[in-house]
Amino acid sequence: MTKELDGKIAFVTGSGRGLGRTMAERLAGLGADVAIHDMDWTAPAKYGEAADLGEVVKQMEVNGTRVTAVTGNIGDADAVQKMRADIEANLGPVDILVNCAGGDIGAAGGKPKPNNALDIPLEDVQALVNNNLIGTIIVSKTFIVPMRDRGSGVVVNLASVAAHFGVSDGAIYAVLKAAVAHYTRCLAKELRESGVRVNTVSPGPSKTARFEATRTVDPRKIDSSQQSLDRYAEPDEIADAVAFLAGPHSKFINGQVICVDGGLVLSPT
Ligand SMILES: NC(=O)c1ccc[n+]([C@@H]2O[C@H](COP(=O)([O-])OP(=O)(O)OC[C@H]3O[C@@H](n4cnc5c(N)ncnc54)[C@H](O)[C@@H]3O)[C@@H](O)[C@H]2O)c1
Repeated sequence: MTKELDGKIAFVTGSGRGLGRTMAERLAGLGADVAIHDMDWTAPAKYGEAADLGEVVKQMEVNGTRVTAVTGNIGDADAVQKMRADIEANLGPVDILVNCAGGDIGAAGGKPKPNNALDIPLEDVQALVNNNLIGTIIVSKTFIVPMRDRGSGVVVNLASVAAHFGVSDGAIYAVLKAAVAHYTRCLAKELRESGVRVNTVSPGPSKTARFEATRTVDPRKIDSSQQSLDRYAEPDEIADAVAFLAGPHSKFINGQVICVDGGLVLSPT
């Protein structure tokens, strides 16, 4: 049976674990060959999701899907050039780019402390800028120029619901995700004539292993079978939106931000 992403090559940054891994699995399930990525080979082990990237590749290599793995810091232009060379050598040129790597990760690896707009240490600000904005720009410059030259391609950037209202905890992260959403609009305008579409997904709080390990989780928001939409997202629900924006059913949608948050953005608390 033909699948909607048959023949496409997708690259999902930060896909060794968490939301990115679920997105990569979804795109593979729709027929794409997939390049997965993480900061280093053992990043998937950090919150117990897999031993390493090799294990993630093996789990995804079913039904003839071609999967390759690359590593490196997205904020390092040389490392990203090497990722592109390795992906093109192993799979071919990328048709679908998902800029997922990022997070509220400070210089020492965890959340910055303090994490408000004025007291956050400068080294954490710099790490956040690198992980969330500069990295997204470097990966975009590296992988979208060939799409523009070919006249086809699809890009999905990951922001956050925190990009769309004022926050005190995670302020700089929120500012940078707002920048990612606006970078999306600027890219979409710039690429309109070339036929390359660029959109953003802004997840609400989502039940990844990292989220559950680093947050005080509200038990009332865990169960996704409940009627109320005032709950955490399942990673699959974020992947649904990414797959839609990466696929043919969104072929005339460009420069948009879709919040996948059960409506949290309407009345953040
Ligand atoms: N989980 C949530 O609640 C939530 C909510 C809103 C937005 N998001 C966004 O979704 C994306 C995925 O988040 P997640 O919850 O799956 O987190 P995660 O930590 O499980 O996954 C993020 C991945 O990105 C990688 N990464 C981060 N900075 C990197 C860098 N500079 N270079 C290379 N790799 C890097 C990490 O190693 C990790 O594998 C992030 O952009 C995050 O900001 C997550």
